[in-house]
Amino acid sequence: MTNADPVKVMKQEVGKAAADRVKSNSIVGLGTGSTTAYAIEYIGERLSKGEITNIVGIPTSFQAEVLAKKYGIPLTTLDAIDHIDVAIDGADEVDPQKNLIKGGGAAHTREKVVDALADEFVVVVDGGKLTDKLGSTFLLPVEVIPMAITPVMNALSKLGGKPELRMGIKKAGPVVTDQGNLVVDVKFDSIDNPEELEKTINNIPGVLENGLFVGVADIVLVGEIIDGKPTVREM
Ligand code: A5P
Repeated sequence: MTNADPVKVMKQEVGKAAADRVKSNSIVGLGTGSTTAYAIEYIGERLSKGEITNIVGIPTSFQAEVLAKKYGIPLTTLDAIDHIDVAIDGADEVDPQKNLIKGGGAAHTREKVVDALADEFVVVVDGGKLTDKLGSTFLLPVEVIPMAITPVMNALSKLGGKPELRMGIKKAGPVVTDQGNLVVDVKFDSIDNPEELEKTINNIPGVLENGLFVGVADIVLVGEIIDGKPTVREM
């Protein structure tokens, strides 16, 4: 292997492996993030080579929409379709039960809508995202409507979390989501019951959606470098 950045290589390979699973005549959920960006690029490449035909994408974010347009993937909306064949999306953490934390790109609300609707939800990650317990390395993102930010942060603290408002990079002030909301990243010492926590947090008035994806993923593709060679395995 060359001295290319190994994380980038893993992301590229796993993105390509997911794109290779897309069949002609299908409706594809297009996820968000740097790994899915490669999947979108390779789906576009397969379309332009004529390897697959009649694909329409459902974007999970403004980023996915921009990339799909760049790579020539026609787009539609949830109002115009009755099913999604496959969704491809990244994750920030994956546990052994294929439960996920998502939202590192502040897109988890739309991602959950699209990924949960898909007949098959394929997660694409590099090996560094695997964890025995969710919340060990990544903070849990929660999308909150702006007027409710203070009571929601108080409620998250009462649940034992340490909430922090996510701030923009190269933009003064907080991160604003594609829906015009704010994101709170919450540190929990231990997420023992992700299924219960997902529901409890979503039940706080003012919370739109949190980044726990429990029982949604069907297939997890993991990109790894083994003996200097990039490989992709199914978890
Ligand atoms: C976007 O909000 C996230 O859920 C991403 O899918 C997740 O952060 C993975 O992104 P990367 O592939 O860039 O690590």
